[in-house]
Amino acid sequence: MHLLVTGGLGFIGSNFIRYIFTHRQDWYITNLDKETYCATPNAHIDFRDNPNYTFVHGDVCDFELASSLLRKDSLDVIMHFAGETHVDKSIDDLEELKRLEFTQTNVRGTQTLLEAVNAHHKLVKNRHAKKRIERFIHMSTDEVYGDLMEGNSFSGYHRKKGSSSETDKLDAKIGNLYAITKENADKTAQTYATDPHNLPVIIVRSSNNYGPWQYPEKLLPLAITNVEEGKNILLYGDGGQIRDWVYVEDTCEALLAVIENGKIPEIYNVGGTWQYGKERKEYTNREIAEIIMKLFGKDTSKIKHVQDRPHHDRLYAIDWSKLHAHTQWEPRIPFPLGLEKTIAWYKQNRAWWEYIKSGQFKEWYRMQYQQRRK
Ligand code: DAU
Repeated sequence: MHLLVTGGLGFIGSNFIRYIFTHRQDWYITNLDKETYCATPNAHIDFRDNPNYTFVHGDVCDFELASSLLRKDSLDVIMHFAGETHVDKSIDDLEELKRLEFTQTNVRGTQTLLEAVNAHHKLVKNRHAKKRIERFIHMSTDEVYGDLMEGNSFSGYHRKKGSSSETDKLDAKIGNLYAITKENADKTAQTYATDPHNLPVIIVRSSNNYGPWQYPEKLLPLAITNVEEGKNILLYGDGGQIRDWVYVEDTCEALLAVIENGKIPEIYNVGGTWQYGKERKEYTNREIAEIIMKLFGKDTSKIKHVQDRPHHDRLYAIDWSKLHAHTQWEPRIPFPLGLEKTIAWYKQNRAWWEYIKSGQFKEWYRMQYQQRRK
C-alpha cells in the first residue's frame, strides 16, 4: 500500500505517519508538505530515515506537482490533511493576507488535488496509466455542523440536539472563516464524488484532537506549556464552551480503519467522547483548565478570563456511531488519561516547544492576547 499524505508535518499528519509505520510496517508513504509555520520542527525525526518514507516539499495548490506524484503510478490512497486550521487566525485581524491562505489551502488546495486525481483517472481510462486511486480521504472537522447551542449569556443557553451526525445539514458559523472554508471544501469533495467524476472520496469529520506534537497555538498545548512556564491559562469569555476531545492516536486508528474498511463515498464522524452505555462526559474549557492545574499540583489562581473569540461556537458534540458500525472502531483513551499522557509528553519535550514559542510565535502570542485583555 502506498499513501500520499498531504500536510504530514502537521500535528495529525505526523502522528498519522508515525502510527502507520508502527502498525503497517510494509506500507509506503509519500509526504507532501509545504512546511508552513505550523509544520512542527522535527515532527518526522523518528521516521524520516525510514526507507519506505519520501518527503516532498510542496504546495497542495500546485497541480503540476500533484500530477507528477500521481504519474509515478504507484499511489493507492490519498490522505489529505493539509490545511490552515487555527480558528483564531482565520478570524483575528493580526496578520495581513493570512485569511486568504485559509481559502487558498483549504478550498483551492483540496480542489487541486481532486482535479489531479480526476486527470489521472482519465489517463488510466485511456490506458496511459495503470493505477486508479482507491480512496481519497478528506480530513474535515465537526465545525462544519455549526453550534449545537442556541442563546447567549444574557438569555441563557439551550442545547439544540445531543450530537451531530453525518446526515445533519452543514451550518458553519458565518464569521468563522476556518469553518466556512472547511464546509466549502467538504462540498467540493462531495461534488467530485458524483457524476461525471465519481472519485472515491471519503470525508472524515473529526472533533478536537490533542496529544503529542501539537503546535502550541491550540488550547491544550498552549495551556500546558504556559503552566510549565509559570504563566496564566487564558480562557475566552466565561470558559463555558464545550468541545469533544479525541486523543490523536485514536484518530489515527480511526483513519486506518477508514482506509481499510470504510465505504465509498461515505462521511464518517470521529470523536473522543464515549457512548454506548459508557460514560458520555463533556468538559467545559474552564473544567479542563482546572484539571490541568490539578495535574500540575497548582491552584486555580492562574486561570484568567479574557475577551471572548468573536463568533465563538459554544458547543460541538459528535456522534461517531456510523464509523463504529462500519469498522468496529471506537476511541480507547478517555480524556483524563489522554490529558495526563499529553502533559507528560510536553514535560519531556520542553526544548521542542520552547524553540517554537521563542520564535515568531512570541510576537503573535503577544498581539493575540493583548487584544483580548478585558
Ligand atoms: O472542532 C475541531 C476543530 O478544533 C478543528 O477543526 C480545528 O482545526 C482546531 O483548531 C480546533 O478548533 P477550536 O477552535 O475548538 O480549537 P482551539 O484549541 O483554538 O480552542 C479550543 C477551545 O478553547 C475553544 O472553545 C476556544 C478556547 N480557547 C482557545 C485558546 C487557544 C481558550 O479559551 N483560550 C485559548 O487560549
